[in-house]
Amino acid sequence: MANSPSFEKLQNEITALEGAFKDALDGGSNAEPCESLRIRFLGRKGSVSGLFKQLGALTETERKTAGLQINALKESIQSALAGCGSSENAGVVERTFDPTLPGDMPPIGRYHPLTMLLREIKSCFRRMGFSVADGPEVETEYYNFEALNIPKGHPAREMQDTFFISDDIVLRTHTSPVQIRTMETQKPPVRIIAPGRCYRKDTPDATHSPVFHQVEGLCVDEGITFADLKGVILNFARYMFGSDVKIRFRPSFFPFTEPSAEYDFSCRFCSGKGCSVCKGTGWVEISGAGMVNPKVFDYVGYDSEKYTGYAFGMGVERIAMLLYEVHDIRLFFENDARFLHQF
Ligand code: PHE
Repeated sequence: MANSPSFEKLQNEITALEGAFKDALDGGSNAEPCESLRIRFLGRKGSVSGLFKQLGALTETERKTAGLQINALKESIQSALAGCGSSENAGVVERTFDPTLPGDMPPIGRYHPLTMLLREIKSCFRRMGFSVADGPEVETEYYNFEALNIPKGHPAREMQDTFFISDDIVLRTHTSPVQIRTMETQKPPVRIIAPGRCYRKDTPDATHSPVFHQVEGLCVDEGITFADLKGVILNFARYMFGSDVKIRFRPSFFPFTEPSAEYDFSCRFCSGKGCSVCKGTGWVEISGAGMVNPKVFDYVGYDSEKYTGYAFGMGVERIAMLLYEVHDIRLFFENDARFLHQF
């Protein structure tokens, strides 16, 4: 059955209106305010409602088809106008700058978790009467090895995979050279800690990083014993982890201490029962310690008959990982802001 003339006329008008709306919307600098567009096309006496009025003259099937078309056109006009000025700010087509809104907050920086932890560690040892010493990260072989009783060819040099700058200049593999530098310039009694960066040729993984931090401790005086060392370490452990923490010393070997030990803190995640952090042992290794080897005193000219001393190291990242439940050491060096902002 052929379409009625009214239907043909309506079809043309729908198409024309579609075009007219597009033109009005893309009007460039002559753009019409949204509210005026809304009234012209969607208003009670607007163009769309004019189209609806013509439906009465159509046959039933024609009315269905045209009705759907007009509705679709109405919806597309509504959604095109949806983002543009509401009736409250009629006439303001696009206001992109609202001077009453608060400004963008600049991101606020904060200290790196290791910096904050180092401050805590320093403050704990200051209270116990230690002062803070410093030494270079680019170190001579003499301070990093020789004066610590690790002569050339000694297997202990192999233990620490060293970055060499030149034949006798290295990136320090531990903070122990600061022991020597301090004793060279100070007479006993000496009570220092030396925090700082160290370097070893380790392949990075969850527990290894070629750059890491240690805190060295050194105490030399008359009558210093291993018991003093245990007391200081226990006091530190309690300061960091609370009064329930336990410490233990295991016999070990370092050329610059005799006797030597490695010391552990009880695992705070499983309270010593055994978990993935402590690899089922209930203990987490912190570092090495011992009584200063008299040979080291000879290097710095201290009288080893008169003085004794203890020294200890401390893996700062290990403490941070325990304290903050961080399971991958690399996070401390990647500086992903999403990680750093959690501290
Ligand atoms: N310097 C040793 C290391 O890096 C740790 C240590 C320090 C051991 C002081 C004994 C005394 O492994």
